Amino acid sequence: MNNSPIGVFDSGLGGLTVVKEIKKVLPDEKIIYLGDTARVPYGTRSSSTVIKFSLENTKFLVTKKVKCIVIACNTSSAWATDAIKNTTDIPILNVIDPAVDSAIEGNIRKIGIIATAGTVRSGVYQKKLKAKNSNIDVYAKACPLFVPLIEEGETKGKIIELVAKKYLSELKSKDIDALILGCTHYPIIDKVIGDEMGRNVRLINPAVGLAQELSKILDKSDLYAEKRFDDDEYYLTDDPTGFINVAEAYLEEDIDNLITKISLT
Ligand code: DGL
Repeated sequence: MNNSPIGVFDSGLGGLTVVKEIKKVLPDEKIIYLGDTARVPYGTRSSSTVIKFSLENTKFLVTKKVKCIVIACNTSSAWATDAIKNTTDIPILNVIDPAVDSAIEGNIRKIGIIATAGTVRSGVYQKKLKAKNSNIDVYAKACPLFVPLIEEGETKGKIIELVAKKYLSELKSKDIDALILGCTHYPIIDKVIGDEMGRNVRLINPAVGLAQELSKILDKSDLYAEKRFDDDEYYLTDDPTGFINVAEAYLEEDIDNLITKISLT
């Protein structure tokens, strides 16, 4: 048993899609969430900057005495997992490995990935998928407009549908079997993406596999919390105004009294 919290970080609010899945599987675990809202987006930045920011996020969570850290951000997972693992002995989980495992399940021939430009450029999803099954074809597409639109609350309606049509047409023409939603924000618009791709394409939300993986690791290392003693805590590096609306709508929970603004530098 270990009643310390689980640390989760993301570049901004997208990591709440990961928090939501963790809370479904592990409702008794306290979560400390860090959203680096002052420096979002990470997806357009260089690898060295993403690594620097991710290490600062990790350092903050370690000061909060977390028992493990979930790298909710796909871009950080792609560039910074190894660097983070070198700084601490606590378990570090990223969202890419469980997504790859879910994607290759079944009789799969062609897999699509949509993600930030940084995640696509890293080639990490592509390499890991090919390493698990060299016979599959992998197609990756960066969708840079999705994040700002979702952050603006454009999660349904004509604008997001038009953007989805533009980004997904190439993947549609490849006749893929599964599509990895390789950015924390994309599960928020999974309906728009699903409608555009059609029902034969299996959508993979990396957070679902991550939550299962986290549960297994807590079990194996005897790190489960006995019961929930305390509320979750949310730390943001910028003012929470925009965050609160999207967060409360998505989590269906009142969290404004759980948010603290901090500075990492
Ligand atoms: N959290 C980022 C990711 O999952 C998306 C937003 C950003 O570009 O920072 O890749």
